[in-house]
Amino acid sequence: MRSYVILIIAIFIAVTMRPVLAQTYGLGTTPTETELAALDTLVDPQGRLLPEGRGTAAEGAPLFAQRCAMCHGPNGEGTGTAAGSAPQLIASSPDASEAIRSGKHYYATTLWAYIYRAMPLHQERTLSVDETYALTAYLLYRNHIITEHDVMNEENLPRVQMPGHENWKIPTGDSS
Ligand code: HEC
Repeated sequence: MRSYVILIIAIFIAVTMRPVLAQTYGLGTTPTETELAALDTLVDPQGRLLPEGRGTAAEGAPLFAQRCAMCHGPNGEGTGTAAGSAPQLIASSPDASEAIRSGKHYYATTLWAYIYRAMPLHQERTLSVDETYALTAYLLYRNHIITEHDVMNEENLPRVQMPGHENWKIPTGDSS
């Protein structure tokens, strides 16, 4: 008898709640294909899912001046300005462990993905795939990791050896 009553109550709740659950609230918009593609690009360190594209340091230089220098400084030295403050991106010398050469940038692939997804700050996802390859190439070149004429693309970006790569250790959960 008790389970019979519980069943009746469950059916009652299901029937009365149905219109509420089916209701839409008129919030948000349906994402476009382009917006979805940007969110879907989950590039991993091995560069899987890096989109097809290409760019060189020479192409990246004017882009950097137009879209990045106001926050990161004309020479990527890092700034605090009215437009925003931002970290150093270009090391002060070929062997300095700074910026992109520092221990925290293990992979060129994830550097690409970070720029594509998160920069320029406040105008995120406005860079094209090729522009992102060009900007990545520019930062790698200015940090003495590749040469000025290396064309970066989805095939060779995963093979770039970052100076900080040596510091990468797979976490073991062992704090020692
Ligand atoms: C409005 C200011 C602003 C602009 C413009 C901007 N950035 Fe940034 N950028 C930042 C800030 C602030 C951070 C630090 C974000 C954080 O630590 O969460 C950052 C971080 C970064 C980093 C990570 C650096 C590190 O070592 O942590 C990279 C790489 C980068 N920006 C590249 C670019 C590139 C390339 C452009 C131009 C396409 C650009 N940024 C434009 C403000 C800006």
